[in-house]
Amino acid sequence: MRPSMASTRASSSSSFDLLRPRLLSPSPISLYVLLLLAFSTAVFFFSHRQIGQVSHQPFFSEAPPKLLDEHLWDSSHGYGLHQCIKPTHRYEAPRDWNRYLTVRSNGGLNQMRTGICDMVAVARIMNATLVIPELDKRSFWQDSSAFSDIFDEKHFIKALQGDVRIVRQLPKELESLPRARKHFTSWASMRYYEEVSHLWKEHKVIHVPKSDSRLANNDLPIDIQRLRCRALYHALQFSAPIQDLGKKLVERLKSHGRYIALHLRYEKDMLSFTGCTYGLNDTEAEMLTALRESTKHWKLKKINSTEQRMGGSCPLTPKEVGIFLQALGYPPSTYIYIAAGEIFGGESYLSDLRSRFSNLVFKESLATAEELKKFSSHASQAAAIDYIISVESDVFVPSYTGNMARAVEGHRRYLGHRKTINPDRKGLVELFDKIEKGELKEDSTLSSLVIRMHKSRQGAPRKRYGSLPGMKGRNRLRTEESFYENPFPECICHNQKH
Ligand SMILES: *[C@@H]1O[C@H](CO)[C@@H](O)[C@H](O)[C@H]1NC(C)=O
Ligand SMILES: *[C@@H]1O[C@H](CO)[C@@H](O)[C@H](O)[C@H]1NC(C)=O
Ligand SMILES: *[C@@H]1O[C@H](CO)[C@@H](O)[C@H](O)[C@H]1NC(C)=O
Repeated sequence: MRPSMASTRASSSSSFDLLRPRLLSPSPISLYVLLLLAFSTAVFFFSHRQIGQVSHQPFFSEAPPKLLDEHLWDSSHGYGLHQCIKPTHRYEAPRDWNRYLTVRSNGGLNQMRTGICDMVAVARIMNATLVIPELDKRSFWQDSSAFSDIFDEKHFIKALQGDVRIVRQLPKELESLPRARKHFTSWASMRYYEEVSHLWKEHKVIHVPKSDSRLANNDLPIDIQRLRCRALYHALQFSAPIQDLGKKLVERLKSHGRYIALHLRYEKDMLSFTGCTYGLNDTEAEMLTALRESTKHWKLKKINSTEQRMGGSCPLTPKEVGIFLQALGYPPSTYIYIAAGEIFGGESYLSDLRSRFSNLVFKESLATAEELKKFSSHASQAAAIDYIISVESDVFVPSYTGNMARAVEGHRRYLGHRKTINPDRKGLVELFDKIEKGELKEDSTLSSLVIRMHKSRQGAPRKRYGSLPGMKGRNRLRTEESFYENPFPECICHNQKH
């Protein structure tokens, strides 16, 4: 198995090896684990007592927990986990199936990436040959890139040789045949795909117009789940020009030391879609509302921005991110890479973040105009560069949940639980509003509150969450944590069990 794109990490080790240098011989490990266990138990009791006190006495003042460099940057404590993606002994090689699946991927880069990997699994389940998917050229991002512009097509086909037969094009003699056009249902089960296999009786080719979330997150055979990981983390690599530039930019960033990658989803489409107009002036708010109302495929039109924000459903503003990171203890000199397209309002809103962290870095400041030339007119290719820099960062902070944030978080978990800090937006907004009202200052009290609020939101190992309680049917499937956000336990295992 070849290293994944994440081997852009400056050292030469493959992603498979990333966990190894941290391994100790067995006996120190158990001692270490015991110590760690004892320590975390102590911390648990201590912090719970503190939370109790603080929530009753919001202005209770005390020195913030001592901020060691380690807390800010280091995530892994040799968790005793490893990647496990090899098929089981029951797994058979694919046959030379003479039935084909043609696919049109939909959505932005990461929606397409995960959708493509689902289609690999679906082709395997349906015993079909997969034709290289067509990419979405009509989404909000209007990117005309073909598959091979963004991905290493040759590697994709070869890496999955033992799983699924993949071809560049439909054989000539099949092109003119009528195809079965099938919208697969969302979060579909094995049984669903076995049932739709009756289509093969009449057709040699099934065309799938949409690839996103067409496969369930849970209750699939382990070999199918592991195939999804092999596809996403190893087979579906970015094309050489993207990988090369990504690697170069990561090296440039690392030459300054450690860095945070901030997925600052403060972009026009997201603000319009979520109806979040907090902090904007009337002209801006009206413009965003008009954009939402005129965008057909955004179903929700009437949104109360205040309620949306209180519920934690708004992307953090640049200013809020600044307060948040400062409260966590990151020093003002920290390098922050802004992984995003155009920030809404540009410098007028960014300046609130810049005044706290002056080392904000953008693609445009990291790469030369010449280097960026061929990517800047292709949103998905630019997003791929952001993806690489985010996966390779020391700390990843998404300001909002979305396909990119989920994909990066999952990939970082897979590579050894690299630190991802997920802001508790609902909790934070309450604090921000208190600051606004003058009830809370940006001081050590705030810092303690924010640090405690995020103790268990830093990407430490845990099993994937199931659905929200009380959900039934479609909603149950909809509210499950995405497989690609956390491929634990199928593709991340404890060291003893191989
Ligand atoms: C695919 O092939 C396997 C064995 O070759 C068979 O058991 C399975 O039922 C087939 N599935 C479909 C959907 O045709
Ligand atoms: C939005 O919700 C807030 C809080 O529930 C409420 O005070 C406000 O009146 C609502 N605004 C509109 C325009 O309905
Ligand atoms: C609203 O903000 C924009 C820039 O983001 C500015 O150009 C405009 O003048 C502002 N409008 C009002 C009414 O303040």
